[in-house]
Amino acid sequence: MRILVTGGAGYIGSHVVKALGEHAYEVLTYDNLSSGNKWAVLYGDIVVADLSDSAALGRVLRDFRPDAVMHFAASIIVSESVSDPLKYYINNTINAIKLIAAMMENGVNRLIFSSTAAVYGIPATIPVSEDAPLSPINPYGTSKMMTECVLRDLAIAKDDFRYAALRYFNVAGADRENRIGQAYKESTHLITRALKTAKGEFAKLEIFGTDYTTPDGTCIRDYIHVDDLADAHIAALRYLLDGNQSVVLNCGYGHGSSVREVIDVVKKVTAADFNVEEVGRRAGDPPALVAGNSKIKKLLNWTPAYDNLEYIVKTAWEWERHL
Ligand code: UFG
Repeated sequence: MRILVTGGAGYIGSHVVKALGEHAYEVLTYDNLSSGNKWAVLYGDIVVADLSDSAALGRVLRDFRPDAVMHFAASIIVSESVSDPLKYYINNTINAIKLIAAMMENGVNRLIFSSTAAVYGIPATIPVSEDAPLSPINPYGTSKMMTECVLRDLAIAKDDFRYAALRYFNVAGADRENRIGQAYKESTHLITRALKTAKGEFAKLEIFGTDYTTPDGTCIRDYIHVDDLADAHIAALRYLLDGNQSVVLNCGYGHGSSVREVIDVVKKVTAADFNVEEVGRRAGDPPALVAGNSKIKKLLNWTPAYDNLEYIVKTAWEWERHL
């Protein structure tokens, strides 16, 4: 089976390319390297091109003739989406629609789409299940939600088109063999930022908001190891290729950790007592996001192997030291 992976040189995409390679799929990465790296692609070739380049995309779909596409290429920083919404609507919605249209033109009708927990906004109940109302509170979440709507409508209109939208919670950690990991030019994510502070790259770590309605006042997130997420992709791919119906699935462990709890684990793993400063809230942050995960466990028989914050932080720390 041949799988085209957009954004396969990025953090999550490269871990999924690795998992695909390990499961003997033939993989081709399509990536503009705006935030990804060639060295991160451990299996298959890479085509360096932008998703907005319809000619390049059409050529790749015609020549490679994938059985399915996995679409990771996107902009992902919530705070940036608040200050530069157009970038998010162009990259995450318009370019996704162009990809889907190009797939239709070339008879490729299986898609795994990287969606996000940000589509829920501030959920009324925690853990949040897939059928909760979608009400994003930042352009990043809205840009992904709109693509989900397009997929839903297309699957209704075209019987042979099937997709899986995977709503990621907070993805962290690195390859167990330390070959790939997060390597963003700008690191805004909590665990990476904390590790870089432990390394001395930043003078202090800021906690964005301590007055949330959570037990310790800081935001709660469901941190999932990137290799567990990659396994979920393999399971979703098999599910679609087996001829099953389209599906929307949360990807998380079903329990969360607060910002303070994460910082404590980072300090323990790194044995570094770095400066932490409490500052105001960051725009676009929901107080708590925890995945209801009974659907993915039941439907895909997905059993996470690394549901342990200390393990997640340890693998990320090994990677940080290697960088
Ligand atoms: N945080 C800090 N200090 C920092 C960085 C983050 O206090 O220096 C806090 C944030 O305010 C938030 C929590 O740590 O409360 C997690 O923030 P991240 O930036 O690590 O991640 P987000 O929750 O904002 O977003 C991530 C992904 C999104 C996804 C979301 C789903 O980037 O793509 O998780 O839960 F939608």
